[in-house]
Amino acid sequence: MKAIQVKEYVKSPLDLTVTELPTPTASPDKYLIRIHSAGTNFFDILQIQGKYQHQPPLPWIAGAEFSGVVLAVPTAPGATSTSNTTNKAGTTTTTTKFKVGDLVFGASQGSFATHVLCPEESLLPLPRGWSHEDAAGLFITAPTAYAGLVHRAHLKQGDWVLVHAAAGGVGLAAVQIAKAMGATVIATAGTARKREIAASFGADYTLDYTEKAWPEEVKKLCRAHRGRNGAAGVDVVYDPVGCIEASLKCVAWNARLLVIGFAGGDIEKVALNRVLLKNVSIVGLHWGQYARFETKTVLDVWQGIFDLVERGGFRGTAFQDESFVGLDSVGRALQALGSRGTWGKVVVRVDEPMSKL
Ligand SMILES: NC(=O)c1ccc[n+]([C@@H]2O[C@H](COP(=O)([O-])OP(=O)(O)OC[C@H]3O[C@@H](n4cnc5c(N)ncnc54)[C@H](OP(=O)(O)O)[C@@H]3O)[C@@H](O)[C@H]2O)c1
Repeated sequence: MKAIQVKEYVKSPLDLTVTELPTPTASPDKYLIRIHSAGTNFFDILQIQGKYQHQPPLPWIAGAEFSGVVLAVPTAPGATSTSNTTNKAGTTTTTTKFKVGDLVFGASQGSFATHVLCPEESLLPLPRGWSHEDAAGLFITAPTAYAGLVHRAHLKQGDWVLVHAAAGGVGLAAVQIAKAMGATVIATAGTARKREIAASFGADYTLDYTEKAWPEEVKKLCRAHRGRNGAAGVDVVYDPVGCIEASLKCVAWNARLLVIGFAGGDIEKVALNRVLLKNVSIVGLHWGQYARFETKTVLDVWQGIFDLVERGGFRGTAFQDESFVGLDSVGRALQALGSRGTWGKVVVRVDEPMSKL
C-alpha cells in the first residue's frame, strides 16, 4: 500500500512524502478498509509537527478521517462489538456489522493511505446517495454540531442561533443542523466567500466578525426581527473560535453558549457577572469523549444525523474551490487548510480507482 508515513516530525505539510509499505492483513478486532477519500483536520497539521496531544511512537501514518470500502472483516469472532447468535445446537455464530464490499466512513489513525485498519465502533455506513468525498468529512463535524446544539444547548424550533466561523468544518455542520431544526441562523465568517458559503448552506443572516462591532450588528438584527426577550439577542451561541466574551453582549435571557473550540488560538477568560446577569449557561462539548462516557448518546446523535440526511436536511460540505487528488496532494491539502482560506471539509481523493480493488 501507499501511505504518508511520518518517520520524523516535519516543519511544513509540504515536507510530507508518500512511502510504499506492506498492505496490512485482516486483524482480529479491526476491519481492513480500502480508502477512497481522506478528510483533513487541523490536528493532522499539529500531529505531523509533533505538537498534538496524541502522538503515536514514530514511525506512524498520518491522517484520521476516511471513507472507503470494506476489504476484510475482523478475524477473531466476538472480538468486536458484533452480535453473537447461538442456535439450538449450541453453536454460536458471529455476524459483523459490516461485510466485505460495504461502503463505510469513519476515523482511525493512518487515513492518509490507500488502506487502513479500523475498529467497528469507529465505522458507519455511507449515507445513501452520498459521495465518498462528502462522507470522508462527516465523522467529526456532524456529531460535534449535533451533540452541541441538540444535547448540550437544547436547541428548540424558533430559537435564534449565532454560529461563529460558520463556513469552517464544524460551523457549516452547525448551520445546517440549526436550520433543519427550525432555528434562525446568524452566521459569522471572516471573508465574503465564506459568508456566501454559509448562506448557501442555509444561514439567514451573515456577518463579518473581523469587524469589531459585530455584536452590535447581531443586536440590531434581533431588535429588528424579534420581540420581547429575543430583542436583546440570540438564544444559542455556537463557538469554535473563542468568541464567548464578545458574544455575551448579544444574547437573550436564558441563552446557552457552546464552547466548541479555540480556532482563534486563545483560550478566553470570561467575567462571570455577565453569566449571572442574563441567566445564561456556558456549556462545553467534547465529542470525542462521548465514546468513552456516553455511548448511548453516540448512537442517538448518529441516528439524529442519519434522519436529517434522509430528510434532505444535511448535505456534505467537501471543499470544492480546489481539488486534491492522490496521496501526493495531502501536503497541499493540509497547507490549504492551515492557511484559513478553505471552507467546509478539505478532502483528499486517494487516487487509485475503486475498480482496481
Ligand atoms: N469540541 C469538540 O468536540 C470539537 C470537535 C471538532 C472540532 N473542534 C474544534 O473546533 C474548531 C474548529 O474546527 P473545524 O474543523 O471547523 O476547523 P476549520 O474547518 O479549520 O475551521 C475553523 C475556522 O475558524 C476560523 N478561525 C478563526 N480564527 C482562526 C485562526 N487564527 N486560524 C484558523 N482559523 C481561524 C476560520 O474561519 P474564518 O476565516 O471565517 O474566521 C476557520 O474557517 C477547532 O478548534 C477544533 O479543534 C472541537
